Amino acid sequence: METPFVFGKIATEKNFTDREQETACLVQNFVSLINTIIISPRRWGKSSLVNKAAELAMEQDKNLRVCHIDLFNVRNEEHFYSLLVQKVIAATSNRWEEAVESAKKFFSRLIPKISISSGPTNEVSVDSEWEEVKYNPDEVLDLAEKIAREKGLKVVVCVDEFQNIAEFSEPDYFQKKLRSHWQHHQHVAYCLYGSKRHMMLDVFTNASKPFYKFGNLIFLNKIEASCLVEFFQGRFVDTGKRITVEASRLIAGLTDNHPYYAQQLAQLSWLRTKEVCTEETVREAHAALVEQLSLLFVTITEALTTQQLNYLRALIAGEKSISSTEVMHRYRITSTTSISRSKAALVKNDILDNQAGKYSFQDPIYAYWLKTQYFV
Ligand SMILES: Nc1ncnc2c1ncn2[C@@H]1O[C@H](COP(=O)(O)OP(=O)(O)OP(=O)(O)O)[C@@H](O)[C@H]1O
Ligand SMILES: [Mg+2]
Repeated sequence: METPFVFGKIATEKNFTDREQETACLVQNFVSLINTIIISPRRWGKSSLVNKAAELAMEQDKNLRVCHIDLFNVRNEEHFYSLLVQKVIAATSNRWEEAVESAKKFFSRLIPKISISSGPTNEVSVDSEWEEVKYNPDEVLDLAEKIAREKGLKVVVCVDEFQNIAEFSEPDYFQKKLRSHWQHHQHVAYCLYGSKRHMMLDVFTNASKPFYKFGNLIFLNKIEASCLVEFFQGRFVDTGKRITVEASRLIAGLTDNHPYYAQQLAQLSWLRTKEVCTEETVREAHAALVEQLSLLFVTITEALTTQQLNYLRALIAGEKSISSTEVMHRYRITSTTSISRSKAALVKNDILDNQAGKYSFQDPIYAYWLKTQYFV
C-alpha cells in the first residue's frame, strides 16, 4: 500500500496543505507578471508552493508559461546562461520541432552551440564553452521577452536557490546586468527564491544592490498547526486508519510545525499504526526519528566551536538576556563579541535562523536532540 505522506519531494495535490493565501498571491503575481521574491529557510515548502502556483496560474491563463531553473549546483555565469536558454525554450515550445525553430530563430550568433535532442521533454542542451556569452549576454538575457512577444505568450521564469549568484566571480556586476535587462521586460516576470535568508536579504533589501526593490517580497511561514492537524487526520482516514486529535497536535508540536518533519513524523507514526494512532505511537515514532538522525547531529555538533555550543546551550535553555554578565558567566561565554560571532557563524551554517533579531533553530529535531541528549 502506498504511504500517505511525502517528504523530500515536492508536495502536490493531496500532499499539499495550507498556504492558501500565499498560493493566491503567487498565482495573482504570475498572471499579472509581477516580479516576486520568496524567502524561507530550507524545507519549508518554497518549491512546492511555486510549483502549485505555477500550475494553477497556467490553468487560469492559457497563454502563460512558467519555467523553473534551479541554481543549486550552478557556480558561474556561463552555466546560468545555458540553463536559462534551455528552460525558456523548452517551456515556450509545444513540440520538439518548435524548440528547434526557436533556437534557430532567436539565436543568430549562438546557434552552432545549441543542440536539441528529441524526447518527451524537449531537451535542449547547450554547449559548455559559453565563455563568449559572458561578454555579450544580451541575446540570452532578453530571450524570454523576445519569444514571449513573438509568440503572444506571457512567461514567468522561476529561479530557485537564487542566492547562489552571490558566489559568482563578479556578483555585483552580474546582478547589474540581469537587472538592467529584466527590468525592461513587459511580457516576462521573475520569481526568485532561496533558502539562505541572510544572503537573500542582502541581495533584495540592501539599497546599494542592483536587485533592491525588484519585486514583491514574500516571507514564507511554517504551516499552521490547525491545518496540519486536519491534514494528518484526512490522510489517515484516506488510508483506512485513524489518528486522534491529541496525537495530531503532538506531531505538529514535536516538529514545531516544520513542514518536512511534520510529514516525516506523520509517516513514521502511520507506519506504526494498526488502527488508531495515539500520542504513544507518535512518541515512539519521534524517538525513532531522533535516533535515526543522531549520527548526523553528532557530525554537525563536532564542527561547532566551544563558544558556539555555549551560546546554543543558553539559547536552548530559553535564556532571555544572554548578553548579561551573569548569564554569560553561567554558560562560560567569554564576551558579547563572542556571542555576535557565534550567532553570525551559526546563521551562516544554517543552524540558526535570524528573523528580525530573533534567533531560532532551523531544525527542530536537532534542537530537541541537543536539549535532551547532548546537553544533559
Ligand atoms: N504545502 C505543503 N503541505 C504539506 N507539506 C508540505 C508543503 N510544503 C512542503 N511540504 C513538506 O516539506 C517538504 C519540503 O518541501 P519543499 O521541497 O517544497 O521545500 P523547499 O523550501 O523548496 O526546500 P529546499 O530548501 O530543500 O529547497 C516536502 O517534501 C513536504 O514534505
Ligand atoms: Mg526547494
